Amino acid sequence: MFSGVSTFAPGVDEPMAFILWASAIIMAGITAFMVWCMVRFSRKRNPKPTHIHGSVKLEVLWTVIPTILALYMFYIAFGGFDMMTTRPDNAMVVKVTGLKWRWVFEYENGKKSDRMVVPRDQPVVVELSSADVIHSFYVPAFRIKKDAVPGKNNWTWFEAQVNGDYNLFCAEYCGNDHSYMLSTVSVVDPGEFTQWVNTVEAVKSGRDLLASKGCVACHSLDGSPLVGPTFKGLFGKLETVLSDGVERQVTVDEAYIRKSIFDPAADLVKGFSNQMPSQAGLISDEEVDVLIETIKELRE
Ligand code: CUA
Repeated sequence: MFSGVSTFAPGVDEPMAFILWASAIIMAGITAFMVWCMVRFSRKRNPKPTHIHGSVKLEVLWTVIPTILALYMFYIAFGGFDMMTTRPDNAMVVKVTGLKWRWVFEYENGKKSDRMVVPRDQPVVVELSSADVIHSFYVPAFRIKKDAVPGKNNWTWFEAQVNGDYNLFCAEYCGNDHSYMLSTVSVVDPGEFTQWVNTVEAVKSGRDLLASKGCVACHSLDGSPLVGPTFKGLFGKLETVLSDGVERQVTVDEAYIRKSIFDPAADLVKGFSNQMPSQAGLISDEEVDVLIETIKELRE
C-alpha cells in the first residue's frame, strides 16, 4: 500500500487496517469452522442428524461480539472524520474550480494556476466550486476526496508533511475527458512557496496554452469535428450560428472568438450542442489574446 503524506493519513489508514485485519481473521475463522463441521457432521460420522432448538448463550455471543466490533470501528474512525470536518483557523485558502475538463487554482493574492503548489506543514483549506457539472477533488496521497458541485460551496482541507508531487484526480464522471482531468499538487518548502505564489507565471504560448486550458479536448487542430468545431481554418470562416434560436451568418473574427470564450452558447455554430462553460474569471485577458492569435495561425 502507498503511504499517506498528510496529517489525515493515520486517521484513515489505521481504521482501514483494523477493519481489513478483523475481516480477514473473522473470515478465516468462519471458513475453518465450516470445513470442520462438514467433516465432523458428515453422514459417515454422524448418520443420525441432531435437532437443535435455539441457544441463548450462542445468540447473546453472536450479537454482543459483532456489536462491540462495529462500535469500536466507528470509534477509531470517528477521530479522523472529526479532524477532516473541522476547519482549522490558521489555514491558507485556495479556491479550486472544476470545469470540463481541467482544474483552476486561485490563491489569496489573486494568483491563478493550473497546478496546485502548497507549503509543507501548513493547513490548506480548499474551497471548491464547479463551472458546469459535478467534479470531485481527489488526492489519494493526502487521503482527501470532496465533490465540487455547481452552486454549492463545498470545502475540505489538508496539511501535507512531505515534499513531492502528488496526483490530483477528478473522481466523479463528468463527461468525455473525465479521465484526463488530472493535475498535480506540489508540496514545497515554505520559502519556495512564497516565491512561487508571488511570481506571475508567463503566459504559455500557442498550442501549449490550447492544451493547458483544455481547449483541444473539444476543438481539434486538424479539421476533424469533436464536441465543438475544429480550430483549423476557423478564423475568417463564414459560419451559420444560432443566436437565441435564430439562425444567422457570422464571420469568425476576434470579437466572435472572444464572445465564444466568455459566452459559448450565445452564437452557437449550427450542428453543435453547447458543452462549454463560460471561462469568465478562469482565463486572463493576455491568455485570450494568445488564444485568438493561435486560432488565427491555424487558418493555414
Ligand atoms: Cu471532472 Cu470527472
